[in-house]
Amino acid sequence: MSAQNTKKMLEQFVLPTYSRVGPVFTKGKGSWLWDQAGARYLDLFPGWGVSILGHCHPRIVKVIRSQANKLLHLPNNLFFKEQAMLAKEIVKSSFASKVFFANSGAEAIEGALKFSRLFGKYRGRYEIITMKNSFHGRTFGALSATGQAKYKVPFKPLLPMFREARFNDFEDFKKKVNDKTVGVLLELVQGEGGVNVADKDYIKKLRTYCDKNKLLFIVDEVQTGMGRTGSLFCYSQYGIIPDIMVLSKGLGAGVPISAFVVQRKISDLIKPGMHASTFGGSPLVTRAALEVFKVIKSENLLSNTKKKGKYLLDQLNKLKKEFGVIKEVRGKGLMLGIELKGNAQPIFQEALKRKVLINYTHVNVLRLLPALNVKKEELDKGIKVLRDIFKNFK
Ligand SMILES: Cc1ncc(COP(=O)(O)O)c(C=O)c1O
Repeated sequence: MSAQNTKKMLEQFVLPTYSRVGPVFTKGKGSWLWDQAGARYLDLFPGWGVSILGHCHPRIVKVIRSQANKLLHLPNNLFFKEQAMLAKEIVKSSFASKVFFANSGAEAIEGALKFSRLFGKYRGRYEIITMKNSFHGRTFGALSATGQAKYKVPFKPLLPMFREARFNDFEDFKKKVNDKTVGVLLELVQGEGGVNVADKDYIKKLRTYCDKNKLLFIVDEVQTGMGRTGSLFCYSQYGIIPDIMVLSKGLGAGVPISAFVVQRKISDLIKPGMHASTFGGSPLVTRAALEVFKVIKSENLLSNTKKKGKYLLDQLNKLKKEFGVIKEVRGKGLMLGIELKGNAQPIFQEALKRKVLINYTHVNVLRLLPALNVKKEELDKGIKVLRDIFKNFK
């Protein structure tokens, strides 16, 4: 089928919720994508953060193939070892004592929200404080929790159980707490909201406040988790332990899987029949996700992320010195944002023309989420293209 036909059919038969750009892609490997005509693109935003091991990592492809030959799906009222092994791996690698598996970030957020109801029930508490510029997904609960009006306005009225506080502003948080507050939900690095990094001191104060006032501390690590910021989970860089953590995106490195995980002291709150997901944690996706943990370890990807993240940040800061249009470069590990003084969309478009995929968010922030195994030469190519573009956008 011609590329033109594919585009026409997508337009004709798929609801127009996405603005698609670029060619028709047919193949991916590592940090590269190929279009139907055989042209190669450098992907510095693989899968919106999902393809954390690059496209089609051979070990992930291999275990998917092998698992597909054995058992694709089983319902969660039957026993199978793949889910058990992944749950154990997540528990072993984090603060968690128990895991619930779902399919998407928003679905796992919904699970965490339901869990907070169980936690607050006997004290009549159900309100959650979320952050301005946060992003937690598009389902009703997750959308209601999201601190960005542009996603919410067409769907009002939304759920009333959320209060928005300013990010990195502890005093504002305290002002928003009342006798209905059950907890706080936040990203440690806001992705969609413009790559805003939480201050360490702020997070520590929030944690202490939550402890003193018996509030839940819920971190959304859908984007920051699985090594993205240089540690397996970002919370560990803040010297705190959350009560609940939400994971997705990189967890499956390309297969749809998500999870919320809880601390031991609250894990008994949920009982059989209270929550479920038909597809959640199937043999296929849990086997793939287990391999993601193994690859991150055996290929030393946390150390690569720290090293390459620092390199990329340094290079971007050099660009900042060269080009006045760059206001700030920020982020953690391989989750970096370039805030511009003007609109970021033309830079994104121009990069695409030059066969480099990046992203822009919040109008004026370019966002890079390279694969954790990205090579120095690949980053150099991306930086060269950005430099060339900025030269013409001065
Ligand atoms: C921090 C965060 N939470 C939740 C979500 C929602 O995930 P999904 O699109 O899989 O529902 C996203 C998606 O970008 C995200 O970045």
